[in-house]
Amino acid sequence: MKRALVPGTFDPITAGHLDVISRAAQVFDEVVVSVAASKKKGPLFTLEERVALVKEATADLPNVSVVCFDGLLVDCARKYDAHAVVKGLRVVTDFEYEFQMTAMNYELSESLETFFIMSPPKYMYLSSSVVREISSMGGDVSKFVPACVDKALKKRFAPKQFEV
Ligand code: PNS
Repeated sequence: MKRALVPGTFDPITAGHLDVISRAAQVFDEVVVSVAASKKKGPLFTLEERVALVKEATADLPNVSVVCFDGLLVDCARKYDAHAVVKGLRVVTDFEYEFQMTAMNYELSESLETFFIMSPPKYMYLSSSVVREISSMGGDVSKFVPACVDKALKKRFAPKQFEV
């Protein structure tokens, strides 16, 4: 049984993340999407909300499950008996950060292999932070995110109604 983790903050999950998850699900027997607490990043959505959105967005992928973790990725991999990590690579600027993380994870656990999936051009510049920014300013992000995320963002950034 070949099981891989697809880790991330997923604040929120985008079409680019979904592309990586579904492609990983074609290569590995099981994919465990691991949603990191990432408290230091001050996420827009709570951990529970992010997990729920990832679950809804991946509901049609039978070999994909969703968990959360708050600690080291290598410990999460041990917990779920995964020997592979799959991450998406978009622009060149991703490389240095991912290279460092992969090298450190290798120091912490030599049995954990990291695989990278190149983003297709249409998702090269897509990120959760760009989606949050556009949505917070009233822009349409529906083609960049799953429908459940679009709905959640619209609700989060809906203009407040004040009683007079
Ligand atoms: O979507 P993100 O925010 O780029 O995901 C980054 C994430 C959560 C995969 C990364 O920060 C991570 O692996 N965090 C767990 C903490 C850890 O293991 N740190 C040591 C690796 S150098």
